Amino acid sequence: MSTMKAAVVRSFTDDLDVTEIEVPTPGPYEALVRVEYSGVCHTDLHAAHGDWPVKPTPPFVPGHEGAGTVVAIGDRVTRVAEGDRVGNAWLWSACGECEYCETGWETLCPNQRNGGYAVDGSFGQYMLVDSRYCPIIPDGVSMAAVAPILCAGVTVYKGLKRTDTKPGDWVLVSGVGGLGHIAVQYAIAMGRRVAAVDVDESKLALARKHGAEVTVNASMSDDPAAELQGLTGGGVHGALVTAVNGHAFPQAVGALRRGGTVSLVGLPPESFPLDIFTTVLFGLTVRGSIVGTRKDMAEAIDFFVRGKIDPTYTVRPLDDINAIFAEMQAGRIDGRVVMDMS
Ligand SMILES: NC(=O)c1ccc[n+]([C@@H]2O[C@H](COP(=O)([O-])OP(=O)(O)OC[C@H]3O[C@@H](n4cnc5c(N)ncnc54)[C@H](O)[C@@H]3O)[C@@H](O)[C@H]2O)c1
Ligand SMILES: [Zn+2]
Ligand SMILES: [Zn+2]
Repeated sequence: MSTMKAAVVRSFTDDLDVTEIEVPTPGPYEALVRVEYSGVCHTDLHAAHGDWPVKPTPPFVPGHEGAGTVVAIGDRVTRVAEGDRVGNAWLWSACGECEYCETGWETLCPNQRNGGYAVDGSFGQYMLVDSRYCPIIPDGVSMAAVAPILCAGVTVYKGLKRTDTKPGDWVLVSGVGGLGHIAVQYAIAMGRRVAAVDVDESKLALARKHGAEVTVNASMSDDPAAELQGLTGGGVHGALVTAVNGHAFPQAVGALRRGGTVSLVGLPPESFPLDIFTTVLFGLTVRGSIVGTRKDMAEAIDFFVRGKIDPTYTVRPLDDINAIFAEMQAGRIDGRVVMDMS
């Protein structure tokens, strides 16, 4: 039996256990991947804390922004070969047969399996991927820099598409963390004008660095929605909420222009009141958006390969995972942390 170093969640209240565990064996359609880098998503923190109604079952290995190289394949694998560069993703696999899979909505498949949640993820030196669903990483791109694209990138790219905005429109990015700072860049690459909201000045500086024209610090403003309405000449055409605080959600709805759409992406385990009168009279759309399909992923990676997206990230060792989670919980990370698995 060969072993590897991995970070294991043993309970929702304890620190992760960085320890030696067995290297998994690829089954049918699966490939074994030597992980080089893995981004740390706030979803991994929600998973480790058991924040959501549908909880993962400890012990498990989080991580769904892993980038590495295929070192072995199981039976019936045709899409990848040994030596190929691939990643894992939140949409680790789907059934391919349900009404959602059949209509281009595999992200809604009720039989999907999620990376770092239902299937062990990329916080280890090796991981399994489903060869039919794993993202393919083109040659020549930095494995550390591409890692944040595999969840943060695809999620905000799809969420921005779902704002139903067009070039020249204003888009609000609420929450400029790992997802949000990449959202600013996709929005600019897609020709949108960006307004950004956070509760931390350094996050707003990062948003401006990546092209945001307007920034509002929600912790310093009496009415961030009204301020955004004024600064964008009547409200934003679309909004993407990546914030990890429930207060940001009604603020984003309040910042919409008439006819606007907000894509909810952040997942704090909370709810918020929706004002019926303004939603109806102003014809607003409020929708959820969850990661992206394999096609969205390929498109999101293509923006990155063409140099349109430049994630801000810090490389840290896997041994730092508990400190990284503590800093993330406190909102002290600029951009993404990418862990080096070597
Ligand atoms: N829907 C999806 O497909 C999907 C995919 C990935 C992550 N997520 C979720 O998105 C959220 C963000 O993930 P992340 O990795 O970017 O987290 P992060 O910790 O890197 O960033 C969160 C940001 O929210 C900001 N914030 C906190 N309170 C705020 C407020 N009141 N107003 C505005 N901003 C505020 C923080 O300052 C920080 O910049 C998490 O809940 C995560 O689970 C959803
Ligand atoms: Zn994620
Ligand atoms: Zn399905």
